[in-house]
Amino acid sequence: MAINVLVGIQWGDEGKGKVIDVLTESADVVVRFQGGNNAGHTVEFGNEKFVLHLIPSGIFREKSVCVIGNGVVVDPLILMKEVKDLESRGIAVSGRLHVSSRAHLIMPYHGMMDALYENARSSDKKIGTTKRGIGPAYADKASRVGIRALELCDFDRFSRHFKEMALHYNRIFASSGSEQLEITGSLEKLEVAAKFLAPYISDTVLMINKFAREKKDILFEGAQGMFLDLDYGTYPFVTSSNTTSGGACTGSGLSPKFIDGVIGVMKAYTTRVGEGPFPSELKCADGARIREIGHEFGATTGRPRRCGWFDAVSAKYSCMVNGVDILAVTKLDVLDSFEEIKICTAYEIDGKRTEVMPADTEDVARAVPVYEPFTGWMQKTSDARSFAELPPRAQTYLKKIAGLVSADMRLVSVGPNRNQTFHVR
Ligand code: GDP
Ligand code: IMO
Ligand code: MG
Repeated sequence: MAINVLVGIQWGDEGKGKVIDVLTESADVVVRFQGGNNAGHTVEFGNEKFVLHLIPSGIFREKSVCVIGNGVVVDPLILMKEVKDLESRGIAVSGRLHVSSRAHLIMPYHGMMDALYENARSSDKKIGTTKRGIGPAYADKASRVGIRALELCDFDRFSRHFKEMALHYNRIFASSGSEQLEITGSLEKLEVAAKFLAPYISDTVLMINKFAREKKDILFEGAQGMFLDLDYGTYPFVTSSNTTSGGACTGSGLSPKFIDGVIGVMKAYTTRVGEGPFPSELKCADGARIREIGHEFGATTGRPRRCGWFDAVSAKYSCMVNGVDILAVTKLDVLDSFEEIKICTAYEIDGKRTEVMPADTEDVARAVPVYEPFTGWMQKTSDARSFAELPPRAQTYLKKIAGLVSADMRLVSVGPNRNQTFHVR
C-alpha cells in the first residue's frame, strides 16, 4: 500500500468511497484533504449502506485512523451529526477521527451566501452548486477572514470572530433584500458543536508526518473529481478546491517526496451532476437508461446525475495531470444490457478534430464527441470475482478504456457492495 493518493478522474461520484473502503482493508490512515460536505461517498457492505460527507471512508475498518486535513472546509454542525449518526449505528469514531486545527469552518452565512449567488446567476451562468457553502468558505479563507477549527476550542474567541463575520454578511443580505442570519440562535447551536468537536481537533500535520516516518500505509481520499478542480476543471463550472492529486500535499501538510503513487477512480461511463459542459452526455433514452440502472442520483443532493458514454479525451488528460499509476474502474455492471456501447475517442470543435482536452470551457461546450462503437457483452457481470470470470467482450472493453488513458488497471468494481470488487493480476 505505502502512501497513495486516490482521486476521481471524471466529474465526481466515480465510486471513490467504495474503492477507499476496499483498499483500507490494509491501510492504517485515511486522510481527506479538500472539499467539504459537498462530497457524498457511498460505502456498502453486508446489508448496510452509509453515505459519508466529511468523515473519511476508512472509518468502517477498525484499525484505520481517519484524518480531516487542513485543506478541507468543515461545517461543525454537519460533522457533529455525522459522528453521532455513525456512532448510533455502531461505528466507533471517538479516538479514531482527527480534525486539523487549521481547517477552515463553513459557517451558516456561507450556505446562505452560496444560495444567494446561485439564485442571482442567469440560467446559463448557474453552477448548480450543492449550496453547502463551499465556495464562500474557501473565498473567506483566500480573503484571510475565515474562521479555523482551532478557534472552536476557545469559544469566546470563536464568538467574537463569528459575530464580526455574521454582521458583515448580514449587511450583504440586508442590501440584497435577503433574510438575515439570526446570530444568537446560531451561536447557541455552534456552542454545542464546539464542545462536542473540541476533543477531535489537533495539529494533524504533526500526526501525518509521524505516520509517514513510521512507514504506515496512508491513503489520501480525494473528493469530487478532476473536472471539478478549481484550476483544471471546466471553469467556472467547478468546485472551489484542488481536487487533483497535488492537493493531497497542500491539504494535509505532507511533503510530495513521501507520496508513492496515485490511484485514479473512473466509471466505465461518465456522469456529471450540476451545470457545465459534458461532451459525451446522452440526452436521449440511453442516458436515462444508464441513470436508472446505475441509480445515478446525487449522494448529497439527490439530484439526477447527467449520464453519458466513456470520454477517453477528458479521462486521458486527467490521468496525466493527476499522474495516475493505478486505475480502479467502477460500475462496469451498469453497461451489461447495452447492445452497443460507445467510447468517445476525440472531439470535433468547429470542424477540427482534437484528442486533447481544451483549456477553454467554451471550446469544451462546443465539442462534438467522435465515437468508436463497441459491441456490448450482454451478460451479467455483477457476480464476477476475477477478471477471468468476466465475459470476453467486457474484458476487451476494460482493456480498451484503460489503454486509451494510458494507465494500469488494477481494480474492477461490478456492484455497489464491498465484495463486488476484484483485483486485476
Ligand atoms: P463517490 O462520491 O466517488 O464516492 O461516489 P458516490 O458514492 O457518490 O456514487 C457512486 C455510486 O455508485 C454509489 O451509489 C455506490 O454505491 C455505487 N457504486 C459504486 N461502485 C459500483 C459498481 O461497481 N456498480 C454499481 N452498480 N454501483 C456502484
Ligand atoms: P463527490 O466527492 C459530484 C459539483 C456540484 C456543482 C459543482 C460546484 O461525492 O464526488 P460546490 O457545492 O462544490 O460549490 O458545487 O461541483 N460537486 C460534485 N459533483 N460529486 C461531488 O463530490 C461533488 N461536489 C461538488 O454539483 O456542479
Ligand atoms: Mg459522491
